[in-house]
Amino acid sequence: MNSPWSFGFRGYDPADEGRREALCTLGNGYFATRGAAPEGRADGVHYPGTYLAGCYNRLTTRVSGRDVEHESLVNLPNWLLLTFRIDDGGWFDLSDVELLDFEQDLDVERGILVRRLRFRDPQRRTTRLVQRRFVHMGLAHLAGLETALVAEDWTGAVTIRSGVDAAVANRGVARYRDLDGAHLVDREDFEAACDTVVVHARTSQSGIRVAVAVRNRLSTSGAPPALVREDGIIAHDITTSVRPGEPVRLEKIAAIHTSRDHASTEPVAEAIDAVRTAPGFDDLLGSHTLAWAHLREAFHTGLSTSRAAQQAVRLHVFHLLQTTSPQTADLDVGIPARGLHGEAYRGHVFWDELFILPTLNLRMPRLTRSILLYRHRRLDRARRAARRIGRTGAMFPWQSGSNGREESQLMHLNPLSGRWLPDHTHLQRHIGIAIAHNVRHYVESTEDYSFLADFGAELILEIARFFSSITDYDHGRDRYVIRGVVGPDEYHTAYPDRAEPGIDNNAYTNVMTAWLCDTAVAVLRELPRYRREQLTEELGLHHGEIDRWKRMAQRMFVPFHGEGIISQFEGYERLAELDWAAYRDRYGDIRRLDRILEAEGDTPNRYRASKQADVLMLFYLLSSEELSRILTGLGYDVPADTIPNNIDYYLRRTSHGSTLSAVVHAWVLARAHRPNALEFFDDVLAGDIHDTQHGTTAEGIHLAAMAGSIDLLQRCFAGIEVRGGVLRLNPHWPAELGPLDLAIRFRGQPVAVRITGRTATVRTQPDPRRPPLPCACGDRTVHLEPGGTARFSLGPRAPAEG
Ligand code: BGC
Repeated sequence: MNSPWSFGFRGYDPADEGRREALCTLGNGYFATRGAAPEGRADGVHYPGTYLAGCYNRLTTRVSGRDVEHESLVNLPNWLLLTFRIDDGGWFDLSDVELLDFEQDLDVERGILVRRLRFRDPQRRTTRLVQRRFVHMGLAHLAGLETALVAEDWTGAVTIRSGVDAAVANRGVARYRDLDGAHLVDREDFEAACDTVVVHARTSQSGIRVAVAVRNRLSTSGAPPALVREDGIIAHDITTSVRPGEPVRLEKIAAIHTSRDHASTEPVAEAIDAVRTAPGFDDLLGSHTLAWAHLREAFHTGLSTSRAAQQAVRLHVFHLLQTTSPQTADLDVGIPARGLHGEAYRGHVFWDELFILPTLNLRMPRLTRSILLYRHRRLDRARRAARRIGRTGAMFPWQSGSNGREESQLMHLNPLSGRWLPDHTHLQRHIGIAIAHNVRHYVESTEDYSFLADFGAELILEIARFFSSITDYDHGRDRYVIRGVVGPDEYHTAYPDRAEPGIDNNAYTNVMTAWLCDTAVAVLRELPRYRREQLTEELGLHHGEIDRWKRMAQRMFVPFHGEGIISQFEGYERLAELDWAAYRDRYGDIRRLDRILEAEGDTPNRYRASKQADVLMLFYLLSSEELSRILTGLGYDVPADTIPNNIDYYLRRTSHGSTLSAVVHAWVLARAHRPNALEFFDDVLAGDIHDTQHGTTAEGIHLAAMAGSIDLLQRCFAGIEVRGGVLRLNPHWPAELGPLDLAIRFRGQPVAVRITGRTATVRTQPDPRRPPLPCACGDRTVHLEPGGTARFSLGPRAPAEG
């Protein structure tokens, strides 16, 4: 690891290859390719995967006597495929040679993956190989792989085989292997030119046509390429002579097009045209690194003191932008929870955007806008989903894919017990609240009121209407209740003694429903009159229902137990306590306590044991003032120690089986228990780098935790937010992290923020045509002229801060 921008992997460790492949994925928001070895095929060690944003397909498989239909992001033909052989020897295989040196470097500054290896083959010949690759950040369809091969001590002929492997399927996640993974049909391949081969295919159900073209060019002269078709591969075999010390260099340029593209006639012609007209590898690399330089500037997050933290943060920004980038802004896609980096959760979109969008809002808000439009386009389907269960408004799916249908699995496999089990996590209706919250927060931070009027308000109103329709008025209590849902903690999907799934009055859902109702009423009021009238007419909103929202905002039921503990759901306190120490002793890692308990014939539903933050999500999403205001408005007492007491209570009962949990815990502990918060922050940074969920990184990165680390720095520790049209700083900066330098955008202008333990500085760029920017810290507000600097000194730290 020489450069702070580089992630180095030394040596070859087959057991770790999956993690490396996911971490070394290169992408541009349109498509991404795992950092798999070009000579490898899916073989239990290597797993080449190329995924294109929004390219989903459905298949049906019979599992445990039931037909299970599932929708997945499709693994596309592998454009990387490249291998070689010396003279008449076998095709290169890492396991057949003596590796003298092996290193892989991921350059997150320029988006380049380099692999260097030196090996001795069974004939005692020593060879060096250097491969560089990129997925072009500026030209969405293009990627490149350059291979340089140097003979150290031999002379002979080398044949390089470079082409496309079309014999791919979705086989990346062991738990899903009982499910059909063959998504591509009608595969055809042909030679488009003497240096170009093409594969095209169609996704079996969604009918998306995909074309992959590759162009191979050798730097030295050689025999004319020979076309080969073998085992699902189409390639050119390119033979040339080699002399010691004289590199042979092959440039491969790939283009991927689909029938979903804009500005396209049809994908095969577009892919061929793209590789035919593309410049050479170095030229493309130049424009690619320029595109990255601009993104890097826009997302600059400098933590100068801790090299490890700085590196992790850079890696996180890098993978965030490889999943969603300016190339995504025009697409009809959401953000898959595991990036475009692997097949876990089949590329589905969850509530994870809640943790991702705040980072985009303050840097590239048009990405958030596009992500929210993905939801708006699926509003009508969400309406139909609500109607299907006898409700009104819009019921968004817990897991979303192509058209916004519910994609959650109905059965899941517990790898520990080998049993397929009913899955009720789709009852997480709180997904709708997350979408409404994302809309509100986007508009608040960007002042994009036209978005609110055109799309956002309709989303919020229809979601509020749905929550109103799943809420019952409980006369005995004189309160509104929500029964039969699942909260953010996926361990509790039912009561131990009740046949039907779901729990009642999940505190997070209920409190946020009060927030939602309040917000819906406020949004309606804030709309320009013409739009309020239009929406009222179009949605058939009537006074009765708005009045009901107002009442719900004041009378939602929130369960409590003990001394001011907000119960995760009604009856939570009647569940058994788990013997955490015994389970830790017996199993070591108990993050996936649900699987452990089920394998023992037990269920987490019986225990006060959570997978992830649930009640504590309230302290994450709402400021303490907002939460107090809501709870007091609901008629509950909120003693000063409510937040710390609840944190303590749930912290002791959470296994952190989701990477989201550490983000939320770092956040909620930041104000009161800083050392503890920093431990969770370290966990967030370590998540994928050290694969802390044991084996899950290989199946795709955990994007919400990655983006969450940036958001922890910016909104939690540095306290940066845009509210009421003012850029506000309320730092609670841990001095041990050293100074923080952040690039953000406020009202379209680049703003540089620097936070240290004692000061906050805000700088704008000189641009005489721009108006001053209002910026506040504490009770001081400054109107910052273009090119100006505002310095705020921060008060002394309270003793409790630790
Ligand atoms: C978590 C969910 C999350 C999903 C996708 C699950 O393990 O429990 O909260 O949305 O992963 O990241």
